[in-house]
Amino acid sequence: MLINLENIKKIYKVGVERIHALDGVDLQVDKNEYVAIMGPSGSGKSTLMNLLGCLDRASSGKYELVGKNTTRLGAAALARIRNQQIGFVFQSFELMPRLNALKNVELPLIYASGVPWWQRRKQARKVLEHVGLTGRIKHRPNQLSGGEKQRVAIARALICNPSILLADEPTGNLDSKTSADILALFDQLHEEGQTIILVTHEESIARHARRIIRMKDGKICSDQLVERKTV
Ligand SMILES: Nc1ncnc2c1ncn2[C@@H]1O[C@H](COP(=O)(O)OP(=O)(O)OP(=O)(O)O)[C@@H](O)[C@H]1O
Ligand SMILES: [Mg+2]
Repeated sequence: MLINLENIKKIYKVGVERIHALDGVDLQVDKNEYVAIMGPSGSGKSTLMNLLGCLDRASSGKYELVGKNTTRLGAAALARIRNQQIGFVFQSFELMPRLNALKNVELPLIYASGVPWWQRRKQARKVLEHVGLTGRIKHRPNQLSGGEKQRVAIARALICNPSILLADEPTGNLDSKTSADILALFDQLHEEGQTIILVTHEESIARHARRIIRMKDGKICSDQLVERKTV
């Protein structure tokens, strides 16, 4: 099992207010699953993704990732796990504006260290090609279209061969044609064995996944396998 969450709670304190963003989440995800997380605004989807991606820590409960209990790890250990196991893709791309596509993709390898620059460059080129971005590798983010920016972000997420690709509304800023292209890329990555967890508001996007989890008020309220039409 890749992911095991047991009774995860996340409480945000704002002034005297306590917000129960996650209120007892249990979730298991196996290798090569493709999961969509749905639910109304404020139901805790991004909070859950941030915990899964070790960007944040739960208030209570247990999180095991690839057999390792992350619950009591400090910031440095979490950052290492994030670098080795997690690829994160965001709605707003989150690329470094001053770096070209190639350099953006190389960045996680620089943090991983021990990889010589020429090998970093070679790997970055290869993964950019793999996500379908060729001929644009010297372009900075403001010289790329939305779909191209998201391809760069996906390449960056994949460069360290993560166990899980997490995507929080990855097509939220893209038109429908570009969204379809990016979803086709996710389908391809899943076929190649990548484990994917994706947040979306749209049923048509969720149906690309094989399993749909619905959240409400910080809890998982349904967990279904997606039926495939047999031809
Ligand atoms: N850093 C924070 N500090 C305080 N409260 C927060 C913080 N982040 C999220 N929340 C609150 O936690 C709850 C869950 O937020 P979250 O961002 O996980 O929702 P979401 O399901 O991703 O919503 P959306 O679909 O709008 O992106 C909300 O009530 C939100 O206001
Ligand atoms: Mg969100």
